[in-house]
Amino acid sequence: MKKVYIRTFGCQMNEKDSEVVLSLLQPDFVLTEEPESADLILINTCSVREKPQHKLYSEIGRFKELKKKRPDLLIGVMGCVAQQEGERIVEKYPYVDLVLGTQAFYQIKSAIERRLREGKPVVLTELKPDFKPPLVLGSSKPKRVKAFVNIMQGCDNFCTYCIVPYVRGREVSRPPEDILREVEYLVKEEGVKEVTLLGQNVNSYGLKEKSYGDFASLLEKVSQIDGLLRIRFTTSHPKDLTERLMRIIAENPKVCKHIHLPLQAGSNRILKLMNRKYTREEYIAKVERLRELCPEIAITSDIIVGFPGETEDDFLQTIDMLEKVRFHEIFSFKYSDRPFAVAKNFKDKVPEEIKEERLKRVHEAQAKITAEIYQSYVGKEVEVLVEGRSERDENQLTGRTTTNVIVNFTAPRLDLEGKLVMVLIESAGKHSLKGRYVRASF
Ligand code: SAH
Ligand code: SF4
Ligand code: F3S
Repeated sequence: MKKVYIRTFGCQMNEKDSEVVLSLLQPDFVLTEEPESADLILINTCSVREKPQHKLYSEIGRFKELKKKRPDLLIGVMGCVAQQEGERIVEKYPYVDLVLGTQAFYQIKSAIERRLREGKPVVLTELKPDFKPPLVLGSSKPKRVKAFVNIMQGCDNFCTYCIVPYVRGREVSRPPEDILREVEYLVKEEGVKEVTLLGQNVNSYGLKEKSYGDFASLLEKVSQIDGLLRIRFTTSHPKDLTERLMRIIAENPKVCKHIHLPLQAGSNRILKLMNRKYTREEYIAKVERLRELCPEIAITSDIIVGFPGETEDDFLQTIDMLEKVRFHEIFSFKYSDRPFAVAKNFKDKVPEEIKEERLKRVHEAQAKITAEIYQSYVGKEVEVLVEGRSERDENQLTGRTTTNVIVNFTAPRLDLEGKLVMVLIESAGKHSLKGRYVRASF
């Protein structure tokens, strides 16, 4: 049997695409963790910022030596950089055999055959506006607690800093029947207890495909699947967060009490330049309503510092929003120019040192808030879905709260994978909580 090594960068959608590719390659290939022993090496790339794109180039260089030693080795590049760069990848790196864009990777098997038949690199990067991803069942990783499920792909929002709409194509939702079949399969055949529904903007699910129903109704349908314990979803665009969706999050016991709601910036002027389509006041109003309906909800966010034209005053409004909203956690990034994205041509680029300094200030402000929030869990009993043994300590278990906080804990028995248990939180770290098992949860 042949072996495939897959290196994945970028978001959860890319992780999911890597799993799909592996399923498509079965039974001809099995997964290996060692590139040295692989017959096929796939690099699944991300181009959302400069940094992840550079990772591809360092990674490709590493595999060039392997190819020299073993000319039969096939090297493929997929994901968003493959989509963005296409032919340029094989021009620059002639030892790359396959370049498969964000829709083309479903053709991996025929692409490999073509590569072997024609003896030259195969580059497939067509993006169709009405692309329907096929339903792929049959996993690469049988028996696991958590799984990702794509509910849509692409994005129509065109935030001015962002490359995603250009490399993932137009927003298309998957039919609810396909999604439900996939979740049922995961629960019944692979023992999955928690699914994360994925899309660049899940809140706009079905808006273009009226017969599918909206995201709130999809959540309700998925929650009716027996044996499924938890549902998560990401990412939510604030502009499309409706009262109806907030109510489902608050009321449906399987829907986790966590929402990733990227704010990006705190200044209305910058939000407008970013084309985010909400103001700080509208964002706060949604957060307040959400907390009214669901007081325990954890809100996390993405923040960009140093967007073109961002003044010290604009930046202070981002810090002010962190303090007002009190996110559980944030992911923060220095703005970087991206190909195709409109903001690339904006004037008044913020110097690197200032971006660096603002990023540091954002980190510090948020670290304090996260520490306070984590500290507030100490002494409380929380429900945790057990994912397995803790990485740091074999004798402990690990899992997450409904609010998506990692909990490591001691327990009288260690065979609790996939079970919901109550844990008493005894201390808080920077990125996780510690505690001890109290009882099973029903
Ligand atoms: N669809 C999601 C996020 C996709 S990209 C959403 O709308 O929020 C993940 C994050 O990368 C974004 O939320 C943004 O914070 C960051 N990002 C995107 N483009 C960027 C750029 N050019 N420079 C810096 N950060 C960027
Ligand atoms: Fe990018 Fe904006 Fe779409 Fe998110 S919503 S993927 S940030 S264009
Ligand atoms: Fe990166 Fe593409 Fe995801 S650019 S963040 S891998 S959609």
